[in-house]
Amino acid sequence: MAPSTKLPKDFIWGFATASFQIEGSVDVDGRGKSIWDDFLKLPGKSLDGKNGDVASDSYRLWKEDIALLASYGVRSYRFSLAWSRIIPLGGRNDPVNPKGIEFYSKFIDELLAHGIIPFATLYHWDLPQGLQDRYGGWLNKEEITLDYQNYARVCFEAFGDRVKHWLTINEPWCCAVLGHGRGVFAPGRSSDRNRSPEGDSSTEPWIVAHNIILAHAKAVTVYREQFKPTQNGLIGITLNGDWAMPYDDSPENIDAAQHALDFAIGWYADPVYLGFYPPYMREVLGDRMPDFTPEEWSIVKGSSDFYGMNTYTTNLCRAGGDDEFQGLVDYTFTRPDGSQLGHQAQSAWLQDYPDGFRAVRLSIFSLSSIVLTCVCEAPQLPMEGSNHCNYLTILATVTDIVLRYLQRYKLPIYVTENGFSVKNESDVNADEAVKDFDRVHYFQGTTKALLDAINVDGVDIRAYFPWSFLDNLEWADGYTTRFGVTYVDFETQKRYPKDSARFLIKWFKEREDPE
Ligand code: NOJ
Repeated sequence: MAPSTKLPKDFIWGFATASFQIEGSVDVDGRGKSIWDDFLKLPGKSLDGKNGDVASDSYRLWKEDIALLASYGVRSYRFSLAWSRIIPLGGRNDPVNPKGIEFYSKFIDELLAHGIIPFATLYHWDLPQGLQDRYGGWLNKEEITLDYQNYARVCFEAFGDRVKHWLTINEPWCCAVLGHGRGVFAPGRSSDRNRSPEGDSSTEPWIVAHNIILAHAKAVTVYREQFKPTQNGLIGITLNGDWAMPYDDSPENIDAAQHALDFAIGWYADPVYLGFYPPYMREVLGDRMPDFTPEEWSIVKGSSDFYGMNTYTTNLCRAGGDDEFQGLVDYTFTRPDGSQLGHQAQSAWLQDYPDGFRAVRLSIFSLSSIVLTCVCEAPQLPMEGSNHCNYLTILATVTDIVLRYLQRYKLPIYVTENGFSVKNESDVNADEAVKDFDRVHYFQGTTKALLDAINVDGVDIRAYFPWSFLDNLEWADGYTTRFGVTYVDFETQKRYPKDSARFLIKWFKEREDPE
């Protein structure tokens, strides 16, 4: 029987954003500072010298934005709550800001009034500055885990009657490595004294990640014990999920791809879903790698109701690197024959790996607990302008592959981000900018992979959120990079749906299961 061309009945789709990237209005209605406010104002921290003071002005334009989302026909919207709007100083003994609660409460009501399911992230990197100043933020296990747990409790109490999908923490890898290792994200700590006056890249990232995992687990414990019985929602973490592929089929590069996955995904996913840290991490880091007590493990293991995944690209992995944050693996997009893996996005770390490659056999994924071998005989399709078919076999697109890898964690998968960036060209007007062919091409590939993963491979995927609803502040890249399916003219703050929005709306509409 031919596989279905439809999505499962209750499949959730929508677009994603994060508070600091879109809201602006940083000193309105009692909001406290977050660690990103001042960080981006330091010389050299943001690529274009710009910051989040206005961003996409969504705090002011929230009603119009929800109306636009509704006009797109989405089933859901993934947004984040700004901790420093809700508890401006952040801590468990600090006051809650009624205006912050009121804002998100109205926001959630408006979504529901339009029939849009609220998918709320509690923490998308905008830690209250007060907690950074008071005790070093994520570095202080005792304090931050209790403060985060308290903040989560306040949110469950205020919004949990209406929010039934919670994400605790977004991409903790970025907080640990980019914020406390490379020092390119707030709070900008690093051993590189050209970047940061203080910090220790050899120890802090591992501590921060550890504390984030524990904070997440504590929030989930509170939810499950105190709120779930009456509110009956789902809660989980969402992780970076870029795929790692061996550079070639040599045994050392096959191992390198697994090592890269251990450091990029397993670092968080293995504790949360399987109850241990990847052994390879301890091998590399020795006693710099923290461990949980048995009591802590008992709340960490199993602390996610689903697998939340942000996935963008694939790295070709070569053994012999010296970057600890990548598991001593070299990443490249250049294949052995010199060709590129895919089409380069504006973000240096992102290449589109288009659907449509077919080749001869697929590599072997050697996982720490299972070995999955996929061999595929597929006709070689004509590949326009490309000659890189003779090296690795591609069974399907990247997203498809990573989705199957994550089945090791044996939970339904929620794809909470997926997207493609282009340059913000100052001389291009909105009429031109909405013709985002490269992004459409990207989504053509990933949506096909999504459907195949569900209907051909039988992967249990429940949701898909392209990143992002709006062009917005791309962190340290400032506004040089656009990820939105909606063009934002940052001068006028007018919104213009791009071709990618139209493509996705139509794609999902056509695949709704009428049953
Ligand atoms: C993942 C992050 O969650 C999001 O904030 C960011 O803008 C996108 N990746 C693109 O870099």
